[in-house]
Amino acid sequence: MIALRNRVEVMHGVNLDQLGRRDPEHYGTMSYDALERAISEIAAQLELEVRFFQTNHEGEFVEHLHRIEGMADGLLLNAGAWTHYSYAIRDALELTGLPAVEVHLSDVDSREEWRRHSVIGDLCIYRVAGKGADGYRDALERLRKEFES
Ligand code: DQA
Repeated sequence: MIALRNRVEVMHGVNLDQLGRRDPEHYGTMSYDALERAISEIAAQLELEVRFFQTNHEGEFVEHLHRIEGMADGLLLNAGAWTHYSYAIRDALELTGLPAVEVHLSDVDSREEWRRHSVIGDLCIYRVAGKGADGYRDALERLRKEFES
């Protein structure tokens, strides 16, 4: 029998709790709470179970990844600026062994040079950027496909 896989841990990193106050040109006007609600709705439509985690502390993000074994079947990560330089988060992500999707609200490839590089990208099965909250639908659909395979 194949076990059902449908649990997604949605992890947001540094400064993402400040959505709604950040530059609307890049991040839109949605607050972090509204984003969580939008993701929950999409997940329900896709019959996925989501849990949320957000922190501004890199070590907490790392420790959450350490604790994730057995709690989730896949990860949806918007690590914010840590995406571009945190090898600590990269190492912790690798430890999980879980399929992960990297999401960015803004189009990181058309912004500053330093945002074009991701230290977690090659550990992820998919990456979405520049689609705002809609990008989370793409990300969850990709994870669902992964769970079905
Ligand atoms: C971000 C892009 C990062 O470069 C930035 O540091 C963020 C948010 C995004 O969602 O577009 O904090 O991950």
